[in-house]
Amino acid sequence: MQIGKTIQGAMNDQIHKEMESAYLYLGMSAYFSGTNHPGAAAWMRAQAREEIGHAMKFTDFVEDRGGSVVLRALAAPPATFASPLAAFEAAAEHEAVVSASINALFELAAKEKDYATQALLQWFITEQVEEEKTSRQIVDTLRTIGTNTSGLYMFDRELGRRGQAG
Ligand code: FEO
Repeated sequence: MQIGKTIQGAMNDQIHKEMESAYLYLGMSAYFSGTNHPGAAAWMRAQAREEIGHAMKFTDFVEDRGGSVVLRALAAPPATFASPLAAFEAAAEHEAVVSASINALFELAAKEKDYATQALLQWFITEQVEEEKTSRQIVDTLRTIGTNTSGLYMFDRELGRRGQAG
């Protein structure tokens, strides 16, 4: 069944949000590079790549269902943050917004009786649980570390391991 116009529009909005996420995380990566946190910078790079992957998943889906992908301009993301904690707090808040958007998309797909879209969105709903959990955990750890510089140094190294993996 070809994709309906309403779902197609919402999917295009979601592609935009995922690319905005990639841009946000790439900006955060630059912030961490510039403040000598190479581990967090690598982590954010990996996150940006993941977000591009999400945008691609939605793009493929729209195309596979005979729809049209319409790309829009991206706004500049923030270039600086008050602290590493503030950056990860912004990331965690952003993931909560993305989850709400995925949930709204699922509701729309249910209303439209678009089962293929619901199946795709199941994957994203599960992915968002993971993304929200990970960012919340990092925020909690950074709150615990506070201004302890050796703690921050060690944690940055730990974050760098994810950057290498992904
Ligand atoms: Fe694609 Fe982090 O949501």
